[in-house]
Amino acid sequence: MAAVFLVGVLAFLGLRGLLVPRSFGQYGHYRGDAIKEIAALPVSYAGHQVCEGCHTEVLDVKSKGMHKGVACESCHGPQAKHADDPAAVQPAKLDTAVLCVRCHAANSSRPKNFPQVGAAEHSGGEACNTCHQPHSPAMVAGGSQ
Ligand code: HEC
Ligand code: HEC
Ligand code: HEC
Ligand code: HEC
Repeated sequence: MAAVFLVGVLAFLGLRGLLVPRSFGQYGHYRGDAIKEIAALPVSYAGHQVCEGCHTEVLDVKSKGMHKGVACESCHGPQAKHADDPAAVQPAKLDTAVLCVRCHAANSSRPKNFPQVGAAEHSGGEACNTCHQPHSPAMVAGGSQ
């Protein structure tokens, strides 16, 4: 019995030595090398301050409306490549039928006082930005100018 037990323990230690990554436990109960690997990934978000430095006209409109707290890249997606070289990389046009309902579709799990609509009844299939200016959405009409 003792021999079988010993073989089991040795097999466990052997397999553990083979399977557990070397840097496991370096800082805690995870693989220490993961930190370096994640830090080395390319950055895809520029951050709203960077966008605002060039797009001051958008910032002027946005800072007066209800979307002032929504960062540029929450809607436009990661745009670090565009911010680095605006002439070479243009952000894709957004489809408001997909974008706006992501945050505003009526949903009982959302706080009651958060503005939400049943898109089908509310807009009758029309694009949201025919009536709402996306950067300052309470300004009805004016389109996406
Ligand atoms: C270095 C200056 C600069 C920075 C930084 C910058 N942009 Fe731009 N952006 C431009 C220029 C220049 C254009 C092209 C304008 C044009 O053709 O009228 C443009 C175009 C755009 C367009 C498309 C406009 C259209 O007509 O379709 C969007 C959307 C946009 N930028 C969003 C962003 C966002 C979001 C950020 C931050 C991540 C950002 N930009 C950062 C300079 C910049
Ligand atoms: C709530 C979502 C949302 C946010 C937040 C947002 N945008 Fe937009 N933006 C849009 C939509 C929708 C359009 C119109 C469709 C398109 O051009 O893709 C647009 C259009 C643009 C355009 C094209 C020119 C224009 O005014 O129509 C630029 C440039 C732009 N956005 C930059 C920015 C910058 C810079 C920020 C942050 C300061 C920002 N956006 C924040 C949704 C948003
Ligand atoms: C990333 C989430 C997000 C997206 C995407 C988004 N919004 Fe908003 N929207 C907000 C937040 C946050 C507020 C402010 C809510 C508050 O302060 O109570 C807001 C406010 C509004 C309001 C103001 C309601 C009022 O009571 O005056 C309207 C209208 C609106 N959004 C329409 C739109 C439209 C149209 C689009 C698409 C172009 C859009 N939103 C995309 C988050 C979003
Ligand atoms: C035909 C014009 C029109 C279209 C298209 C439209 N809206 Fe509206 N929307 C309005 C008007 C008018 C109001 C009420 C005025 C206001 O609150 O600014 C409103 C209000 C809202 C509100 C605030 C509701 C509240 O309880 O405070 C939200 C959120 C909203 N719209 C989102 C959207 C979204 C998302 C779309 C696209 C699916 C859209 N709208 C399309 C005209 C329109």
